Amino acid sequence: MDWMKETNEQLRRGAFLMVNGNPMTIGWGQFGVIWNKQTFSVYVRQSRYTHSLLEHASTFTVSVPKAGTMKDDLAFCGTRSGRDVDKISALHASLLPAAFGGQDGFSGCRYHIECRILFRTELDEHLLEDDSLLSRYYADGDPHTMYVGEILGVREENA
Ligand SMILES: Cc1cc2nc3c(=O)[nH]c(=O)nc-3n(C[C@H](O)[C@H](O)[C@H](O)COP(=O)(O)O)c2cc1C
Repeated sequence: MDWMKETNEQLRRGAFLMVNGNPMTIGWGQFGVIWNKQTFSVYVRQSRYTHSLLEHASTFTVSVPKAGTMKDDLAFCGTRSGRDVDKISALHASLLPAAFGGQDGFSGCRYHIECRILFRTELDEHLLEDDSLLSRYYADGDPHTMYVGEILGVREENA
């Protein structure tokens, strides 16, 4: 399916993880089937404001820009925290209301993947079997929490 292929490619440049109207740029994520459900999983470090929002959330949405677009928005949402700034207002952006019971998306993107959280767990970095990844990604701690989301629906916006 096009949206899976395009999302996989776009993740290298970034997509927006949306929780309570706060966009956070993500580069990690994947599709798959588990518990016989089509899922999308995301990985959020403990230090992120988004992590604190997810503690009280049962859904998330991944808004995926069209290739080559929204570079400044991705950079802003990947360096600034929702703790300090309302990113959507600062970017003069707007939210796209959820259509499948997930979170509102970042308007102007190509796809909005609405998910219901099925499972969450903190990744124990010491279980990594490649030491180079441990030193590269966790020298300062700050582990990732993995959230497995059941895909509720995918909305297309900008063709
Ligand atoms: C291209 C890119 C990809 C990123 N991917 C992730 C990611 O997958 N997980 C993560 O926890 N942080 C990731 N970040 C860092 C967060 O986007 C960044 O810390 C952000 O300011 C956190 O926002 P928040 O405090 O509003 O949650 C990425 C940043 C960039 C620029």
